[in-house]
Amino acid sequence: MIRHFLSLMDCTPKELRMLIERAMTLKAILHRREPHEYLRGSSLALIFEKSSTRTRVSFEAGITQLGGNSMFLAPAELQLGRGEPLEDTARVVSRMVDAIVIRTHEHAKLAAFAEHSQVPVINALTDRFHPCQLLADIQTYFEHRGDIAGRTVAWIGDGNNVCQSWINAARQFGFTLRIATPAGYRPNPEILGAAAGSAHLVETPEDAARGADLVVTDTWASMGQESEKEVRMRAFQGYCVTACLMDLAAADALFMHCLPAYRGVEVAGEVIDGPRSVVWDEAENRLHAQKALLEFLLA
Ligand code: CP
Ligand code: NVA
Repeated sequence: MIRHFLSLMDCTPKELRMLIERAMTLKAILHRREPHEYLRGSSLALIFEKSSTRTRVSFEAGITQLGGNSMFLAPAELQLGRGEPLEDTARVVSRMVDAIVIRTHEHAKLAAFAEHSQVPVINALTDRFHPCQLLADIQTYFEHRGDIAGRTVAWIGDGNNVCQSWINAARQFGFTLRIATPAGYRPNPEILGAAAGSAHLVETPEDAARGADLVVTDTWASMGQESEKEVRMRAFQGYCVTACLMDLAAADALFMHCLPAYRGVEVAGEVIDGPRSVVWDEAENRLHAQKALLEFLLA
C-alpha cells in the first residue's frame, strides 16, 4: 500500500516518534560527515505553486545527501499550467519518480493528486496543513527540552495551516496546545474539535503564554493573502510575541517560528533574535526530519 504524508494524521503516534528519533540520528550522521546514501537512485519531484526557501532547499539537499536526485517543477513550466488536468499529471509523473512533494493552495488539490499517484505524495504546505514543518519543530523541542508529551504550548496568531498542524501534533504527541487568535482567524472547528482534550482556544495572548513551555507564532498574512494584509495587520494588533509576553511563559520557555518571520509584526526582534529563540535549529531540522520521512516512505 502506498503511504502518503498529507497531514500528521497519516502516521500513528509511534511512527511519528520513530521519525523524530531517526531525524536526530541522521543529523548526527551528517554532522560526522559520514556517507548515508540509503536512497541511492531515488527520484523526487517537487511541484510548488508558492514560493519556498526552507522546504525546497531541505528536500533537494536531503534527497541528494541520501544518494537520490530531485527535479523542481514550476507549474507554469508544466503542461499543468496550460490546463492539463491535475489527475493526469499525477498519473504520469508518478510513473517516473519515487515520490512527489507538493506545495499548493487548496488541500483538496493535494488530496486529488495523491489519489491518482502511484507513489507517495508529501504535503509541502497547503492552506490546511504544514506537517513537514511540525516534524522539524517537534524534533527541535526534543533536542532542547526532551519529550514534549505533557508540556504546554502557546500558539499566538493566525489559526491557519501551521496552527492546524500544531493542533494535530498536540493529539499525536500528547501535549496541551493553548490557542490565542483574533475572532475571525480561528482554526477550522472540525480540526480543533477532533483534538478536544489536547488543543483549545483561550481569550487572550496572555492567557496562552502564561506558564507555557513553548510559544509559537507565524506570519499574519500567509502566501495568497497579500491583498488582506492591511486588514489583517489591524485585526492582529495585540498578538505580537513581545519580550513581555515571553516573560509570562515558563522561565525556560522556548520560542519557535516556522519562518519567514516579520520582525516587529508578529514577533519582536529581541524575541526571535534572543536567547529563547530556537528558530535556526527549527529551520535546519527541516532537512533532517524530511530525510527521515523520505526514508520511511521510500525505503
Ligand atoms: N517554513 C517554511 O516552510 O518555509 P519556506 O516557505 O521557505 O519553505
Ligand atoms: N502560514 C504561512 C507559512 C509559511 C511557511 C503561509 O502559508 O504562507
